[in-house]
Amino acid sequence: MTGEAIVETEELTKRYAGGTLAVDRVSFQVKAGEVFGFLGPNGAGKTTTIMMLTTLIRPTSGRATVCGRDVVASPHWVRQQLGYVSQDVAVDESLTGWENLYLQGRLYHLEPAVLRQRVGELLATVELEEPAHRPVATYSGGMRKRLDIAAGLIHRPRLLFLDEPTLGLDIQTRSRIWEYIRRMRDEHGVTVFLTTHYMEEADRLCDRVAIIDHGRIVALDTPAALKQALGGDLVTIRLAHPGPVPGGVGGGRPPLDRPAGDGQQAGHEAGHEALKALAAEMARLPLVESVQPGADSTVQLVVREGERATPVLLDFLSSRRVRVESVALKRPTLDDVFLRYTGRQLRDDEGAAAYHRMARAVRRVRG
Ligand SMILES: Nc1ncnc2c1ncn2[C@@H]1O[C@H](COP(=O)(O)OP(=O)(O)O)[C@@H](O)[C@H]1O
Ligand SMILES: [Mg+2]
Repeated sequence: MTGEAIVETEELTKRYAGGTLAVDRVSFQVKAGEVFGFLGPNGAGKTTTIMMLTTLIRPTSGRATVCGRDVVASPHWVRQQLGYVSQDVAVDESLTGWENLYLQGRLYHLEPAVLRQRVGELLATVELEEPAHRPVATYSGGMRKRLDIAAGLIHRPRLLFLDEPTLGLDIQTRSRIWEYIRRMRDEHGVTVFLTTHYMEEADRLCDRVAIIDHGRIVALDTPAALKQALGGDLVTIRLAHPGPVPGGVGGGRPPLDRPAGDGQQAGHEAGHEALKALAAEMARLPLVESVQPGADSTVQLVVREGERATPVLLDFLSSRRVRVESVALKRPTLDDVFLRYTGRQLRDDEGAAAYHRMARAVRRVRG
């Protein structure tokens, strides 16, 4: 990775004719040699951004350069530098895989001899040599997508745009596609800009991720840094009963769920007080960043090094003779990052639902 910017945007904005502000003043750089991801829910503005960068639509305002040239001023030149694999499979079903790649290369005016060799190499890279001479109609979804990616590389672009490269594919097929994308970068030095709503994909595949929501970039960094910025691992402890507290070991306080005293309410309050006192003590333990007593005798903690902090917490509770019903240790995911910045969850099933809507629409169109 050279670190030189291969894509640069400044306040890039797109408002569609109907009034929708799809992309709202986004500024970012993609560095040469990296796999850069745009992660966001359906409708966030990912495709619109790609379409502006690939010169398919014009920005309403702001600026974008690809390999140092403005996308509006030099669209033809910019298109020569990049490969673009759209969200929908674009290959011709009635032709073979080999024929699809060959035709794509002819569109770029590649010499037949050069092209034959390149088609062979690309088919090998995406492991489609065996079915190369079968019509694409016989290919699986994953095979078609791999062929699409190969087609995007036929003219040896420096930069490859992939719009939702694994949309609707099963998890095994997705991880194979991730492998090809890495290989493009490692073996061919191609810079990759991809969009996805699969947080796991962004996490595992991308060197850096921009999280986009409602047309705005809400966070941009390496996946590790984004997760780290949340402050640590999350430990949730459910107590069997929180007393006796505070101070003395083994005092005769009743368990939370069967309180002494006059009735449910008083007992409930006593239990919650006990829980709060316990939480205050836990906040002083090593590695603990913060403690939040919750409902149902649970305590939520943000800790550094969750796997080391958890035994410390359990030892402490045991020393207070507090029985623990369950413990959960969770490392932050990019979903937690999204939640932090937007107050909503970015869930994979949102994408799946969008895919099924699209599939239904396609079936309707085809009759
Ligand atoms: N051609 C268009 N005309 C009007 N609105 C559009 C058009 N394309 C997309 N939009 C709207 O712009 C927003 C962003 O869409 P898009 O860039 O496709 O998001 P994503 O790719 O993140 O799902 C959405 O609200 C979408 O409905
Ligand atoms: Mg899209």
